[in-house]
Amino acid sequence: MSGMVSFTVNGTPVTAPTEGDEALLFHLRNRLGLTAARFGCGQEQCGACIVQIDGQPRYACGTSVAALEGCAVTTPEALSGDPVGQALIQAFAAETAGQCGYCLAGILISAHALLSASPQPSQDQIIAALDRHLCRCGANGAILRAIRRAADTLAEATA
Ligand code: FES
Ligand code: FES
Repeated sequence: MSGMVSFTVNGTPVTAPTEGDEALLFHLRNRLGLTAARFGCGQEQCGACIVQIDGQPRYACGTSVAALEGCAVTTPEALSGDPVGQALIQAFAAETAGQCGYCLAGILISAHALLSASPQPSQDQIIAALDRHLCRCGANGAILRAIRRAADTLAEATA
């Protein structure tokens, strides 16, 4: 039986049909024009598609739109409007963290969730937060440094 589901994307109300079992990633990219979350594997194996659902990193390729009633979805497009996101974007630039950049939107989403919950994470916490992300360029070291830099910047700003 078909129906409708209502949720928000970056604070904007969205209504979508539940029929067809459409994945959130394709809804974002093909219907809403939000293309920052990337398609990598489509099998919850690479992390390129990760967005936040109610503040938690989730695979958009493996999340059905039909399951999102009442949820708040945050995509990489929203990160630049938020202090934690801004600190992360600046830190990734300062550390030149990334080469092709394909993995970075998902990684920024996971790092944002981490720093929002744990402003001064341990190295183990940072590594755990990135566990679902593959960086095929091998930029892992710079990415770890960038997240640490963002955490330090945010701590200085609130000191
Ligand atoms: S595209 Fe979703 S995890 Fe790879
Ligand atoms: S920077 Fe190319 S995959 Fe990570």
